Amino acid sequence: MRKLTYFIACSIDGFIGDPGGDASSMYPFVNEEFIAFLTSQYPETVATEGRRQLGFHDAENQKFDTVIQGRASYQLALDMNITSPYAQLREFVASRTLKESPDPNVELISDDVVGRVRELKAEDSELGIWLCGGSQLAGELLDEIDELVIKTYPLVYGSGMPMFGSDFAATEFALESVRVFDNGVLVRTYSRKR
Ligand SMILES: NC(=O)c1ccc[n+]([C@@H]2O[C@H](COP(=O)([O-])OP(=O)(O)OC[C@H]3O[C@@H](n4cnc5c(N)ncnc54)[C@H](OP(=O)(O)O)[C@@H]3O)[C@@H](O)[C@H]2O)c1
Repeated sequence: MRKLTYFIACSIDGFIGDPGGDASSMYPFVNEEFIAFLTSQYPETVATEGRRQLGFHDAENQKFDTVIQGRASYQLALDMNITSPYAQLREFVASRTLKESPDPNVELISDDVVGRVRELKAEDSELGIWLCGGSQLAGELLDEIDELVIKTYPLVYGSGMPMFGSDFAATEFALESVRVFDNGVLVRTYSRKR
């Protein structure tokens, strides 16, 4: 089985954005050192347009060949007239309101998102599946998550959009690695304890 990885940016206090989900206050921490990390290890998690602007549009996928996101997260791209934000990946969007996919590279999942993710995990591939977010979809898929890669920016939000929009349950993960950046950003990788 290949892995479902929730690769996500958050504040010190575990929020993925302000109460409306806006994470733009994290952007100033994405400096040269951090971009070098992303381009070498997770180039496929940078939006296609960002890859073009940063000059690595043809970088080979390193960890993932598939991305899944909730419609509210995908909506941010649609609002910029971008229908395939991660064209370097196979894209899945969970939605009950979108009736037709806006792009040939995007497959909609309208029901049984857990079942569809299990099917994707059972596919034969060297590369894994990136759960992009947001909070609601991550909460629904928590039981399926095999790995967390948490980019923590040195900010406290006080309140905001939680990493998981789900009910309380203590779920154990094992710390695999921590990378510390000069500007105080941390990237922690955890694997699921089953
Ligand atoms: N910090 C980060 O790294 C990061 C990463 C990603 C996103 N975000 C933020 O997260 C925010 C969005 O998160 P969110 O929690 O509001 O929404 P979300 O999880 O992105 O999307 C929720 C939507 O997904 C669809 N959905 C969820 N479960 C479903 C199911 N079982 N079956 C079918 N469709 C399902 C529904 O779409 P319909 O309404 O169409 O039915 C639902 O409204 C954005 O503001 C974004 O900025 C942050």
